[in-house]
Amino acid sequence: MNDEYTTIDCLSNHQDKEVTLAGWLYRGRASGKVQFLIIRDGTGLCQCVVEKGKVPDDLFEQLKRLGTESSLTVTGHVRADDRSVGGYELAVTDANILSPAADYPITPKSHGIDFLLKHRHLHLRSHRQWCIGKIRHTLIDAIRRFFNDNGFTLIDTPIFTAAAGEEEQTLFEVDYFGSPLQLTQTGQLHLESAAMSFGRVYCFGPTFRAEKSKTRRHLTEFWMVEPEVAFIDLDGLLELAENFVSYIAARVLQDNKSQLETLGADIPALEQIKPPFYRLTYTEAADILTGEKTQKFLAEQLAQFKDRKQQTEARIAELEQQQKGNLKQFQQDKIAAELIELRADLTETNTKIENNPKHAKLAADFRWGKDLGGSDETIISQMHDKPVFVTHYPKQAKAFYMKTDRENDKVVLNFDMLAPAGFGEIIGGSVREDDYDVLMQRIKGQDLNPEDYKWYLDLRKYGSVPHGGFGLGVERTIAWLTGEKHIRQCIAFPRMMDKVYI
Ligand code: 4AD
Ligand code: MG
Repeated sequence: MNDEYTTIDCLSNHQDKEVTLAGWLYRGRASGKVQFLIIRDGTGLCQCVVEKGKVPDDLFEQLKRLGTESSLTVTGHVRADDRSVGGYELAVTDANILSPAADYPITPKSHGIDFLLKHRHLHLRSHRQWCIGKIRHTLIDAIRRFFNDNGFTLIDTPIFTAAAGEEEQTLFEVDYFGSPLQLTQTGQLHLESAAMSFGRVYCFGPTFRAEKSKTRRHLTEFWMVEPEVAFIDLDGLLELAENFVSYIAARVLQDNKSQLETLGADIPALEQIKPPFYRLTYTEAADILTGEKTQKFLAEQLAQFKDRKQQTEARIAELEQQQKGNLKQFQQDKIAAELIELRADLTETNTKIENNPKHAKLAADFRWGKDLGGSDETIISQMHDKPVFVTHYPKQAKAFYMKTDRENDKVVLNFDMLAPAGFGEIIGGSVREDDYDVLMQRIKGQDLNPEDYKWYLDLRKYGSVPHGGFGLGVERTIAWLTGEKHIRQCIAFPRMMDKVYI
């Protein structure tokens, strides 16, 4: 940015001085002889107050008619004002319209999600998307910082791969000069080879899964960071994971508190994210799911949903009544926006009321041996106020590379980390099978072709050591930290099964 412009995040250094901001008109409101223009410049929002008589009359009129998202520069005096967004406002003395915009398609009346995704190239300018983008930036910086400061070496693993790392059904196939290759589902297998060279390594990149589920937790392209460590056991991995997640949560709290507040994140809950996290074995989790306490917990939840439904319906009726009155345009707009939010909330509450008995039945019918389903994870995660590790899953439900527990060969030495408040799995990890023969059996047992894993098996032939690692999904982590319900909001340009919008 040009030196002649001051950025909104630096206004506190310019109190009572004249500055020029360069940005876009986020929102404008006129009230007789005063206009309130909210300007955004990429670093924040600032209210600019234009008084008739303080700027030339023709400029006052032009600004009054200026459309949302027009670009402009605004000059004025910086005043501290607690009521203003950002704590400062600008008393405008001059402005220069750079490119006027008319009929900006996204209006303050909220739109459906489909419309917003189709307009993601513009919706990225919304304050919510901006806050999420800023948090994502911090999170990624914190992830790298943590591993770089703890003796890990970054290894970039390939995107084109020749063998499945996770379930084969979710592989995306691409035509690689006439032969099939796949887009990577995980960097783990390659990373294991690098761990035998560097000891502690991590990879961080986009990951692809042809997930056929249209849930709020699934993207087909998502970002995953994966550490891999030589000479580590399951306890060591859990400790690494809880220190890591506590560190990144603390960094986001430190750097992005105002964005978290704007997004309505549960800040006191985030302040509790410190080791140790809860630890459950899969078998204990299964007992919880089928236990009486869970049924009681779900019944209480159902009662809460019903209360909420009643309250939301009452507020909707109240606003609909108000709408019939004689209101100014901005008051009408405000009510319309609140109604759209409330109706979305009501639809969601109705879905929860509908799903609650189904989830209760799934939990009650849970049998040892099955993988935890999405609703099972949600329940366990809702019953805890900090992340929970679930360890020692049944071997039959898990990937071939997970090490069989030598004390109980029905289970593997793995873990999932479930984020609290119903957000569910954010990390999956395990100790890796380091015995050549056992691994070979597991590969064959899962109908995989040992030829494809020849190099991976080699790692067990030449100086095999106990080792393990995990993968953290960036978008799911952001959804949890910000309280955003759907992970499609946690990446700038989401890719989902049903549609790729832009
Ligand atoms: O549990 P997953 O499948 O584990 C692995 O891929 C291991 N190979 C990682 C390792 O041990 N190095 O995926 C890890 C995490 C999940 O916990 C979740 O946060 C995220 O990746 N994830 C997804 N995020 C968004 N959309 C999807 N379709 C995801 N699938 C997994
Ligand atoms: Mg998993």
